[in-house]
Amino acid sequence: HAATGTGVPARASYGAAVRGDALANDPAYAEALAARCRVLVPEGGLKWPVIRPNRETFDFGEADRIAAFAGRRGIGLRGHTLAWYGGMPAWTDAITSRAEAERVLTDHIETVVSRYAGLITSWDVVNEPISDDPSSPKNLRSFVWSRTLGADYIPIAFRAAAAADPTARLVLNEYDVEFVGGRFAQKRDALLRIARDLVDSGAPLHAIGLQAHLPADRSIDRDGLQGFLREIRAMNLDVLVTELDVIDATLPSAVDARDLRVAETARTFLSAVSEVLPPSAILTWGISDRYTWVPMYFTRTDGLPNRPLPLDANMRPKPLMAVIERFTRS
Ligand code: G3I
Repeated sequence: HAATGTGVPARASYGAAVRGDALANDPAYAEALAARCRVLVPEGGLKWPVIRPNRETFDFGEADRIAAFAGRRGIGLRGHTLAWYGGMPAWTDAITSRAEAERVLTDHIETVVSRYAGLITSWDVVNEPISDDPSSPKNLRSFVWSRTLGADYIPIAFRAAAAADPTARLVLNEYDVEFVGGRFAQKRDALLRIARDLVDSGAPLHAIGLQAHLPADRSIDRDGLQGFLREIRAMNLDVLVTELDVIDATLPSAVDARDLRVAETARTFLSAVSEVLPPSAILTWGISDRYTWVPMYFTRTDGLPNRPLPLDANMRPKPLMAVIERFTRS
């Protein structure tokens, strides 16, 4: 298995996050996804703001279109995400009691997960639970579910998802656990505590999702990450790379050199992970530079477009695609 350079066979399926509007309007994008992906995840189609515009409504339009696209081609599906602070619709702010919170959260999860039971085989049940403020209670981000249910919202969400689809693989997904630095080490420790509490209480947790949004100017913490993954492995949990892209905002302008730095950053990360626990899936957060979230937060000072993904804006593969192919089974 010289390909991965780790002596471990590549077992990961490759996939990407999908935008429903682009899928409907951009044939070249749709074709690139169909040709290269064994699994897809809606980038926004299953988020609360999209499917829950109000308390009475479930709008599955975008998610159903993505599920139909995948189903027709025998491509697998991941679900993202059932409980996340990043974009709860305003009507949920009115939820203040524990009883109402548990009812709304479990009703949402049961309705959404059972609809796609058997189609979506892996869910980001809880996304980014850990606060960037180390002093917050139990390191948890404050949003409607942690405010009303405390840390219990996490096992409540996992148990509701398992009850709705006992076959689905249930994932705890987080970012900024990959790097050198105190706050990243703290996030790894906090994530391990949440995982261990779930496992010790018999909650149905199956895997950790490493989002892997990798700033090219940040160092991957090989030792810290591998120590973390040994603990995950010891708990008989799987690992997925769920949102890989390389944030190239601070890299020099020259495109070829930039693409090589992006590829090298991803290779460093993927080999560090694969040496300890080969991921069961590697998804990039988008497949083409034509559709990426990165410039929303990380614009380049030279005004040039970001190049964080495996295909360029014309759907042509870059060195990052070749790196990913070494870590995924064909
Ligand atoms: O579709 C609406 C459009 O109708 C409206 O006119 C427009 C103006 O507000 O908003 C559009 O929705 C945008 C949506 O992306 C669809 O493109 C939202 O504003 C925008 O906030 C949303 O951003 C997404 C973000 O999550 C928040 O949900 C990004 O595309 C998406 O890449 C990003 O993904 C997150 C993961 O879920 C979790 N990990 C981090 C990752 C990157 O931030």
